[in-house]
Amino acid sequence: MGGMLGFLYNQLTFTPKPLPESINLSGKTALITGGNIGLGLEAAKQLAERGLSRLILGVRTISKGEAARDEIQRQSPDCEVVVWPLDMESFESIKAFGERVRKLERLDIVILSAGIKALEYKRAPTGHEAHIQVNHLATSLLSLLVLPTLRKTASTHSKNNKPTRLTIVTSEVHFWSRFPDQHAPQILLELDEPSSFGAGMERYNTSKLLNILWVRELSNRVAGRENDNGHGSILINGVNPGLCASELHRSHTTPGVQVFNKVFAWTPRQGGSCLVDAAVVQMEQGGYVSEQVGKRPSPFVLSEQGGRVQKKLWEETMGILSEVVPGIDLLSGL
Ligand SMILES: NC(=O)c1ccc[n+]([C@@H]2O[C@H](COP(=O)([O-])OP(=O)(O)OC[C@H]3O[C@@H](n4cnc5c(N)ncnc54)[C@H](OP(=O)(O)O)[C@@H]3O)[C@@H](O)[C@H]2O)c1
Repeated sequence: MGGMLGFLYNQLTFTPKPLPESINLSGKTALITGGNIGLGLEAAKQLAERGLSRLILGVRTISKGEAARDEIQRQSPDCEVVVWPLDMESFESIKAFGERVRKLERLDIVILSAGIKALEYKRAPTGHEAHIQVNHLATSLLSLLVLPTLRKTASTHSKNNKPTRLTIVTSEVHFWSRFPDQHAPQILLELDEPSSFGAGMERYNTSKLLNILWVRELSNRVAGRENDNGHGSILINGVNPGLCASELHRSHTTPGVQVFNKVFAWTPRQGGSCLVDAAVVQMEQGGYVSEQVGKRPSPFVLSEQGGRVQKKLWEETMGILSEVVPGIDLLSGL
C-alpha cells in the first residue's frame, strides 16, 4: 500500500493468521537469524509447533540463544534446536557460520530476520555503517552462503518438486526511503559516510529498500540459473511483517513513538506469523509479501531507475563480498 493512511488502516484492520493446522514440517530443517528474540523467535516457535524436526538459531549471544532454545523446546519438545554463534558485524563470524551451513546434510527453510534500527550513525567494526553492515551486507552474504545447501536439499529431499525456501525480512518502510544516494557513483561507499545518514529512520528505511532490491536480483539470478541447469529450485522472497511491538524500537525514543506503537503495533507473535507464512506458504518467486499476500513493492522498486539501481547495487555488493569470500559467486552457484 505504501502511504501512511494505508499503513495505519492495515495495522488496525488486518490480523495475521498462524500457519494452517494442515501444514506438517516433520523431517525438515530450518535456520533463523535473529531467532533469540522478537519476530525471529516467534517464527521459530511457530515452525516448531508445525512439527519441524530441526532448527538452527544463528545468534550473537549464545546465552540468549540457549534461553530461546529452552523456550521453544518447552512448547515443542520433539524439535531439535541448536544454537550457533553468528555476529553479523563480523565477516569472520559470518564466514564461519556459512562454513557450518555448507556442511549440513539438509536445509529446507531459511529466514533471515536479524536486523537493527538506530537513529544515530554508528560504524561497525568492518568499517561499514551499521545498518549497511547488518541489514544489507551481512544479510546478503548469508543469503549467498545458504544457497548451495538449499539447492542440494531441493534436489535430494524435496517431495513433489517443492522448492526449498529463503525469506529475507524487509519492511513497508522501504516505500518511505527518499534514497538520495541512489545517484552516487558508488552507492554503498556513499551510504557508509556519516554525512549521508539522514534524519530519524531514514537510514533504516533505506536498508529495508536494499533488502527488497537484493531479493529481486538474487531471485532473478537463482531462478535463471535453475532454468539453465536443471538445479533443484529455491523460492526466494521478501516479507514485510508489519509494525510489531518488539525490541527493534528500543532506541526510538522520539516523543509519541512508544504510544503510537501501543495503538498500532501487532504482537511479535503476529509478526512471526507473517514470517512463517512468507517462508512456507507464499509461492511467488522474488515476491514481496505483506499482510500475508503477494503485493507490489514501492513504485521506485518497480521503476526503470529502480531496476538500474538494483543491478548497480548487486555489482557493488558482490564487489565487497568477493573481497570477504573470494569466488562467492561461484561458491553460491551463481
Ligand atoms: N518490529 C517491527 O516493527 C518490524 C517491522 C518491519 C520489519 N521488521 C524487521 O524484522 C526483523 C526482526 O526485527 P525484530 O522486530 O524481531 O527486532 P528485535 O526484536 O530487535 O530482534 C532483532 C534480532 O536481530 C539480532 N541482531 C541484531 N544485530 C545483530 C548482529 N550484529 N548479529 C547477529 N544478530 C543480530 C538481535 O540479536 P540481539 O538480541 O543479540 O540484539 C535480535 O535477535 C528485522 O529485520 C526488522 O528490520 C521489524
